[in-house]
Amino acid sequence: MKNIAIFASGTGSNFAALQAAFADPARGVHISVLVCDHAHAAVVAKARTAGVPVVLVNYKQCGSKAAAEQYIISKLPTIDLIVLAGFMRILGPDLLAAYPRKIINLHPALLPSFPGRTGIADAYEYGVKVTGVTVHYVDAGVDSGEIIAQEPVRITAGESLDELETAIHAVEHVLLPNAVTELIKEGAI
Ligand code: GAR
Repeated sequence: MKNIAIFASGTGSNFAALQAAFADPARGVHISVLVCDHAHAAVVAKARTAGVPVVLVNYKQCGSKAAAEQYIISKLPTIDLIVLAGFMRILGPDLLAAYPRKIINLHPALLPSFPGRTGIADAYEYGVKVTGVTVHYVDAGVDSGEIIAQEPVRITAGESLDELETAIHAVEHVLLPNAVTELIKEGAI
């Protein structure tokens, strides 16, 4: 059994998808903890309902990113992988050094196109005909680490941004748990 930590900031639909996928013990993954930087985020309630321990971190109260990351590191149990699933912060050197090649991120566009916080809308407004979802290793840059998995999503004529968001999330909910399973199969974690 591999132990993972999920970091998320908001709604937590990907947390829910990971939790549903890994509820099957045959997948060999246990969600040990949720780390969240917003006490009132919907993902916190989802984790509590699922019985997943929650670590809340208030970056402002910690005073610096380094202090916040040291706090997170001090609270994390022994884990094999950190999955950033809608965690809206750039990681600093402390977390990266503590978990080398053990942190992956989900991004709602086909990197290296449309990095940053608004990947779905940026692709839509640019007018690309194909966007998608990326899972990648995290490095010190913004959505710049080595790509692990990608899935394209076509934007059809007349499609609304809301419809595209729904389509992207549906792909994310399958691609992310499958990417974790692939890493285990490959012996990467
Ligand atoms: C997801 O679409 C994820 O790809 C995105 O945040 C959303 C979180 O949704 N992440 C980024 O944009 C990172 N740059 P969720 O809270 O419903 O899982």
